[in-house]
Amino acid sequence: MDKVFVTRKIPEEGLKLLRENCEVKVWEEEVPPKKEVLLEEIKEIQGLLCLLTDPIDAEVLEAAQNLKVISNYAVGYDNIDIEKAKEKGIVVTNTPGVLTEATADLAFALLLAASRSIVAADNYTRAGKWKSWGPKLFLGQEVFGKTIGIIGAGRIGSAMARRAKGFAMELLYYNRSTKPRLERETGAKKVELEQLLQESDFISIHAPLNNQTENMIGPREFRLMKKTAVLVNTARGAIVNQRALLEALENREIFAAGLDVFAEEPINKNDPLLQNPRVVVAPHIGSATFATRDKMAQMAAQDLLAVLEGKKPRNPVS
Ligand code: NAP
Ligand code: GLV
Ligand code: GLV
Repeated sequence: MDKVFVTRKIPEEGLKLLRENCEVKVWEEEVPPKKEVLLEEIKEIQGLLCLLTDPIDAEVLEAAQNLKVISNYAVGYDNIDIEKAKEKGIVVTNTPGVLTEATADLAFALLLAASRSIVAADNYTRAGKWKSWGPKLFLGQEVFGKTIGIIGAGRIGSAMARRAKGFAMELLYYNRSTKPRLERETGAKKVELEQLLQESDFISIHAPLNNQTENMIGPREFRLMKKTAVLVNTARGAIVNQRALLEALENREIFAAGLDVFAEEPINKNDPLLQNPRVVVAPHIGSATFATRDKMAQMAAQDLLAVLEGKKPRNPVS
């Protein structure tokens, strides 16, 4: 029987499928297995089902002797050394599509929360600081009818665009390729990054983390943004230079930010970014709905099993 290591307790939908077909070992802790554990576990197994919190780098892959498949419980796969896996003939799969709407919902929630200081206002109300309805109490940015710039107009970026359309927004996008369907359905206009940064009231990032996107938004990019701009990042933290973001907020170069992802996760509780009332944060919960996580578990398990059975997986990472 094939041996499979699952690096965290994923929903039962996925574990059940795996247990029916393989000898399954699950890492039961709340925090990810350390590298020593991965190096040890990977030696014997045929299948690895891992999370975005597990760096599957060249050293870990080198230790694999019989590994046929790595099924990543995420759509982003920047945690895996894809070249090395390919070199070793290991198939890598991910979970695209099923998490698109949930992640776009969270991105839009962060956009609204950051624009209207909802978290700061909530804290203020609970703290008993509310004295009276105030003409200038918690003034924020108008959302309806404004311009949104989408960086990375793939599945989630397009889903975000559809939501923005419901708020009668003008849409700009920056993407590697042109997206005729998105343009047709939402009237979105493809522009260079510079123009997007200059003209957008809201900027939402939905590109994968890769060599081209790492640190894509730095000091220069913040200076190009409107002083009233709101930045939303639900893609990967390292796409934004976090120090430059803090400076842009402190120097009032932008209005606010909504962040689900961070350069280092978890972000340190003493990080100055967390002291800023214009920042709304979440602990990387873009895909965290009951239904989506169940679908991801099923999808990840099915593709892992497909490869072990010598079949083509539905979602190979190319
Ligand atoms: P996707 O469909 O592959 O979309 C990514 C888009 O980014 C594509 O349209 C791609 O262009 C574009 N892109 C890639 N490199 C680029 C570059 N250098 N410059 C400009 N555009 C570039 O992926 P998705 O399913 O929407 O997911 C996007 C990302 O969201 C994932 O990679 C993941 O990191 C993140 N994510 C986060 C959460 C969360 O919990 N916060 C949940 C799900 C996903 P082409 O179409 O031309 O290839
Ligand atoms: C989550 O961040 C994912 O990439 O699925
Ligand atoms: C506010 O509550 C209003 O009625 O204008």
